[in-house]
Amino acid sequence: MVPVQDNYVRIFDTTLRDGEQSPGATMTSPEKMEVARALAKLGVDIIEAGFPIASPDDFEAVSQIAKEIGNAPGPSGMPPIICGLARAKKADIDSAWGAVQHAARPRIHTFIATSPIHMQHKLKMDPEEVVQQLIDMVTYARSLCEDIEFSPEDAGRSDPEFLYVALGEAIKAGATTLNIPDTVGYTTPDEFGALIAGIIEHTPGIENAIVSTHCHNDLGMATANTLAGIRAGARQAEVTINGIGERAGNTSLEEVVMSLQTRKPVFQLETGIDTTQIMRVSRMVSNFTGITVQPNKAVVGANAFAHEAGIHQDGMLKHNETYEIMRPEMVGIKSTLVLGKHSGRHALRSRLAELGYDLNDEDLRKIFDRFKHLADKKKTITDADLDALMSDEFDQPCEIYCLEGLQVACGTMGLPTATVRMSGPDGELFVEAAVGTGPVHAAYTAIDKVIGMPAKLLEFNINAVTEGIDALGEVTVRIQRSNGKENGVVNPQHDTVKQRTFGGHGADTDIIVASAKAYLAALNKMLVAYGYTNEAQMESAEEPVPTA
Ligand code: KIV
Ligand code: ZN
Repeated sequence: MVPVQDNYVRIFDTTLRDGEQSPGATMTSPEKMEVARALAKLGVDIIEAGFPIASPDDFEAVSQIAKEIGNAPGPSGMPPIICGLARAKKADIDSAWGAVQHAARPRIHTFIATSPIHMQHKLKMDPEEVVQQLIDMVTYARSLCEDIEFSPEDAGRSDPEFLYVALGEAIKAGATTLNIPDTVGYTTPDEFGALIAGIIEHTPGIENAIVSTHCHNDLGMATANTLAGIRAGARQAEVTINGIGERAGNTSLEEVVMSLQTRKPVFQLETGIDTTQIMRVSRMVSNFTGITVQPNKAVVGANAFAHEAGIHQDGMLKHNETYEIMRPEMVGIKSTLVLGKHSGRHALRSRLAELGYDLNDEDLRKIFDRFKHLADKKKTITDADLDALMSDEFDQPCEIYCLEGLQVACGTMGLPTATVRMSGPDGELFVEAAVGTGPVHAAYTAIDKVIGMPAKLLEFNINAVTEGIDALGEVTVRIQRSNGKENGVVNPQHDTVKQRTFGGHGADTDIIVASAKAYLAALNKMLVAYGYTNEAQMESAEEPVPTA
């Protein structure tokens, strides 16, 4: 286990577990791998890779992350710890261990609720039974794995005196990290800081464990609560990229890390995060999940470093710090215009390498073609353009259907009409045309005609990647199978099974093409999740049933 270092805050990223519990955040296994790789490069100490008992796919994704990412040295020289979540149940713990055991540094995270409302209405257990269950399950988990995290769920609304006893028993049973969740985002910073301080003062054996924060943002206080917990002595913070998570989300990684960094004299604490990777991971998670980042979001929002005309700009030119407490470069934003029409392969490769993309020759050839095509239409290509192109080209390969061509007619003089040409599962070509209320609707209807699995469009967002009339348009969508029965994502906390939603992303200088690509990317994910990989299966397959 990592020895306790008083000035080091461990960053525990739960984007792939608690983040994925947020509506629409479903990621495919290759996307999860890609995010885990990016998190390792970012320098997170612990990756909570999932809830392995949820489904065979979840188990497989956590195992793969443990095998690959959990054995490759990160920026610290050590691989990140790979963690799997388990309810305080033997089957969950066995499954979590089965998946994480391949990592050089595996961790099992087990939890049980300790608040009166959860014990009475959800668990229907007495406090004594809860304590016995956690002792039994932490002891069992520790018999398998040396690194055990225990969470008293809904600690924010639990009786502190009861927590001291429960946590003391967890330590005796072998827990090495005690995570304190404000599960429903109820506490204020004063209260949460006092809760952590009380736990550190009164829990027997606490000097042998790391205390951790896990805050939710229901009242917009997740970051403030986390920082209050850290000031009170917590040395692990559980966070997600862009703050994604159930309901209003979790504490956002970038806000906590940049607060600790920007206000170092106040906190006097270190993290292992390479902050220049933040923007890249933020864009990746947003593209994969289809959950866009609000423009005024701290640190990673499109406006976070933008300065309007007038007094701000004048002040900025005189001295950067007039209106800027962090430099954009610190989070990986390069504001300079980087490449253009005359830039060659070498310049592109080295710029992409600086952005964190290591490409083989074949991938470079593909992206160079896209780059040239874009540079013909757009004078200057920025880092944001490159990120959008990379994500469009590689993050969502056409797993089943590919868009080969699209033509639309629209305006005020007739019915909006779209014709699509698509290649299908076995390589055959399809051409369909449809009318719609607008060009996007017409294109989506034509795509639906080819695929034949109707989807409900839950969300559609369109953004310009950069300024200017020639900007790349970036579209993210979220869809759900419209006549789908429950295709289960098991929620570890409510034990409910939710119908899956799927996100897709597309980028192009033509926004209708970007819209079609985004829709098709989401549809491909939906088809894979429902087990349809070729025409015959689509006709005969039963819907899969959730396994837990
Ligand atoms: O919010 C919460 O309580 C959780 C636990 C499983 C740690 O996510
Ligand atoms: Zn949570």
